[in-house]
Amino acid sequence: MNLSELIRGRRSIRKYLDKDIPREVLDEILQDALWAPSGTNRQNWDVYVVEGKKKDKLLESIIVASDIVKPKLEKMFPEKIVNITMTFLRTLGGAPALLLVYMPRSTFEIRLDMSSLEKYQTEYDRYNNSLSAAALIQNILLLAQEKGLGACWLTAPKNAEDRINEEMGLTDKELVSVITIGYPDQNPPVPPRKGEKIHWVS
Ligand SMILES: Cc1cc2nc3c(=O)[nH]c(=O)nc-3n(C[C@H](O)[C@H](O)[C@H](O)COP(=O)(O)O)c2cc1C
Repeated sequence: MNLSELIRGRRSIRKYLDKDIPREVLDEILQDALWAPSGTNRQNWDVYVVEGKKKDKLLESIIVASDIVKPKLEKMFPEKIVNITMTFLRTLGGAPALLLVYMPRSTFEIRLDMSSLEKYQTEYDRYNNSLSAAALIQNILLLAQEKGLGACWLTAPKNAEDRINEEMGLTDKELVSVITIGYPDQNPPVPPRKGEKIHWVS
């Protein structure tokens, strides 16, 4: 599969087979993913691979997040989509492994009277760290796809971040996202892409 087919063929997978991922496969994906670009090459990210009983404990925390996001989803989507999303958040689709992507915790204050420059300089670390982590995550998704695995990138668990971090024993890091990963047990329809997003300027 060439890169264009891989990118276009990747789907968010929300239902997985009850089949473990060999550790060497997961490790190969992560080692390759770490070649993502990062702001000033800081590589300010950490990936935690969570399996087994710890994963079950984390799911208990993520269920808390699902209850928090439900009202928001109800405002945005029809009932059918809300139900699918809620089922996924409450089960994580039976994924055999979760990848938790973290960046360093940074604290700063953004004020309304700040100029763009002041704002950027103030939030520089978090801005660059989160963009860098996003590049890493996209690598993981594509590498998983290449190996016949499926994955889904989730930020909904951020709604239960304190509980998740406590469960993980982490105090100095901010959760960027959770990725479910495993062998797909579904072939989801292709969500249409919006046009008119590219602007040629000369
Ligand atoms: C930053 C980000 C956050 C996302 N968070 C969630 C999430 O919390 N729950 C979920 O089910 N999907 C989540 N997704 C997946 C998107 O819903 C999905 O990528 C989008 O609907 C397009 O579908 P596709 O990935 O199959 O092309 C997230 C994707 C991104 C990039």
